[in-house]
Parts: sequence; C-alpha cells; structure tokens
Amino acid sequence: MKTIRVGLVGTGFAGRYHVECLRRVYGVTVELAGVTSRRAESRESFGAEHGIPVFESAEAMLPHIDVLDICSPPYVHEAGIIAAAEASVGILCEKPLTGYFGPPGAEKSWRGDQASKLVMLEEVLARLGRIRDAVKSNGVFFGYGENFVYAPSVQKEREIVEKTGAQILRMTGEESHNGSASDMYGIWRYAGGGSLIGKGVHPLGGILYLKRVEGLARNGVPIRPKTVSARVHQLTRLPGYEDKGFLRTDYHDIEDYGVMHVVFEDGTVADIMTGEIVLGGIHDYIEVFANNHRTYCRLSPVHIADTYNPRGDQYKDVYLVEKCSTQEGWSAAAPDENFTMGYQPELQDFMAAAAAGVEPQSGIDLALDTTATTYAAYVSAEQKGLETEISLV
Ligand SMILES: NC(=O)c1ccc[n+]([C@@H]2O[C@H](COP(=O)([O-])OP(=O)(O)OC[C@H]3O[C@@H](n4cnc5c(N)ncnc54)[C@H](O)[C@@H]3O)[C@@H](O)[C@H]2O)c1
Repeated sequence: MKTIRVGLVGTGFAGRYHVECLRRVYGVTVELAGVTSRRAESRESFGAEHGIPVFESAEAMLPHIDVLDICSPPYVHEAGIIAAAEASVGILCEKPLTGYFGPPGAEKSWRGDQASKLVMLEEVLARLGRIRDAVKSNGVFFGYGENFVYAPSVQKEREIVEKTGAQILRMTGEESHNGSASDMYGIWRYAGGGSLIGKGVHPLGGILYLKRVEGLARNGVPIRPKTVSARVHQLTRLPGYEDKGFLRTDYHDIEDYGVMHVVFEDGTVADIMTGEIVLGGIHDYIEVFANNHRTYCRLSPVHIADTYNPRGDQYKDVYLVEKCSTQEGWSAAAPDENFTMGYQPELQDFMAAAAAGVEPQSGIDLALDTTATTYAAYVSAEQKGLETEISLV
C-alpha cells in the first residue's frame, strides 16, 4: 500500500480536525511526518500530544514529506503553496485559497472595509495567477479544502445530477454562525475580508462545484460563473445595534453579513447568504432547484439525532453540535460532524487522489474560481450591488 507523508502547517481548529481525519483514512497509508506552526510552544505541545515530529518552518519540513497540509491563516497560504510546488511537494490548502491582506507592511490602523476593492481584486488575480502557474507548471497534487464539496448530502446531489442529466436552474446556499473562534478572524490583514471570504466561500464553493459537475456530465465542460452582484453590511456595528451579549462583536474591519447573486455562463443563477449573526449553531445548507428534481442538502444541522435536555448542566460533558451556545432545550446533536460536514470524506479523497496521482473532487480550478468570484463580489458590494464581471484565471 502506498504511503503518503503529510506535513501539517497550523495547529489550531483546522489543524486538529485534519489530524483526526487523516488518522481515519483507509486504503492509503498516511504518515503524519511533520508539524509546524508560528509559535514554538504550540507546535511542540501539538507534536507531543499527537506523536508528530516538529519542524521550525514549512520550508524545513518539505524535504521530509509528500504533501504539505496548509491549515494556517489565509495570509500565509500563498507562500506555503509556492514553496511546496517548487519543491515538487503536493499541497492541501484550507479555504480560502488566498486573498488581499493590505499593502506591504500594512499597520493595525489600515482598514480593509475602507480600502479600494478594485485594487484588492487586481492583487488577488495576480496571486491566483502565480498560484495556478506554480501548481500546474510543477505538476503537483493540489486539494482545495472545501468541505461543502464532500458533505455526504452534496455528494448525493452530485450523483443525482450526473445520473439524471439534470439542468440546475437555481441554487441557494448559506454558511452562517456566531463568529469564528480564531483570533485572526475579523482582521482583514490576516483573513482577507469578512463573512464573504471567511464563510461565504463554503456554499459558493459547493455551488460552483455542482455547476461544474452538471456541465461535465451534460457536455464534457464545466459551467463556470460569469457575473456577481453583492452587498455587505456591518450589522453589529450599526449605531442602533443593541448588544445582548450573545453575538461576537469584536470585529476590527470586516463585514458581518453578505449576500452574493451569481449568474453562470448558461444564464442560470445562485444566491448565497453568509454572516456572523446567526445563533443556534452552524447554519449550513445548499438547496438545488433543477429542471427534473429538487434537493435540500443539509450540512448542519443534519437532524440525525434531536435531543431534549431540561437542565443544561446534565450535558456538561456531552458534545452536541458546533457553535450552539446552550445545551438546554432541544438540540440537533451531531454524532459525527467530521462525516456530515464533509471533513472525513475530504481527507479520504485527498489522500486517495494524491496516492493515485489523479485530480480530487475539490481541486485547484474550483479554488481559483471561488476566490475570483468572491473578490469580484467585494467590487460589486463597493458599488452597492452593481453586476460585476468575474475575471476567471
Ligand atoms: N473548512 C472549514 O470548515 C474550516 C474551519 C476552520 C478553519 N478553516 C480554515 O483553516 C485555516 C486556519 O483556521 P483556524 O480556525 O484553524 O485558525 P487558528 O487561528 O485556530 O489556527 C491557525 C494556526 O496557524 C498558525 N499560524 C499562524 N500564522 C502562521 C504562520 N505565519 N506560519 C505558520 N503557522 C502559522 C497558528 O500558530 C495556529 O496554529 C484558515 O484558512 C481557515 O479559513 C477551515
């Protein structure tokens, strides 16, 4: 059985579930051959806890691995991708692929929400070109960490579209919750934006994937996005916002709600909503309206097990569902979020595809289209929703 040696960058939320899922991969032997992160003490303790050799940097790890697994914040993704590609090492990169993080040396006082979005778009398109060239010219494996693609509900829809020759006429999708746990989230210089790039890329990626699948099934070519109209808002910073203490509000310079209306090359459409102002756990879905069927794909809550708890402290040691702030009353308990959210099937596909030398379901082309669409959406939002052409890389 082929062995894939994986080196992990980043030991936060994403790094932890990547290790859990990589340890459950079957059919390919996965060796966790290295870990690094920015702070020495966090990489040392993570390495010790999981029995993974620790390296000072991604560069130092590259000679010892086959695949670099990038789970660091978005502002460092490009450097890791290019270093790995140039060393002929394969890549897994968490969403978002990349973004705009301010002019060189941007200080804390720089505000992304007030900066020119056309400048951002130009810089992002240049970055996407560099990433595409590095990956494609070096012929390295690339997996784009978009779990929506791999959610079992979305994969069931892929099968329906492929086997019935469906034409998707419109889709709606959302990822929203009550803010990220990462302290870099909320700061444009590290995150590359707010809800659109931090959360909206998830349903957008899943939706762009399904139109690709449809095009390939019906005509042998993917159907790609053409224009986008978008709005963004800072609802928790409205002068009249009344803070009851339930929603995270400490964002530096990002939007906390956004909406994108995408028109595809064939004239069909999708509407994506995303925000930080949704209580009650992660709210993730895609709904598909086709010419021969309709499917509601649930990622969270999935309602495999609903449980009623009359007194919160009874469940103090029971994990129920991500980002639900109370254990009391009815909860949609998630027995295995790594599966229902798509993380486990994602890492399974990446390892199997890397071992076989084939494209994964979520690859470089989806990553490039998702990022180009998102920054075109920021340009549109700056002009209060003007329909904006998407420059595909
Ligand atoms: N697919 C998903 O559902 C999902 C969920 C969470 C996070 N993510 C993505 O994963 C990435 C990480 O997010 P997170 O929530 O784990 O963040 P986090 O803040 O919890 O962890 C980030 C990790 O990266 C390390 N890091 C920071 N700067 C670094 C640098 N310059 N070099 C090396 N390491 C560095 C930090 O030390 C930390 O270990 C982001 O791109 C995020 O969007 C995806």
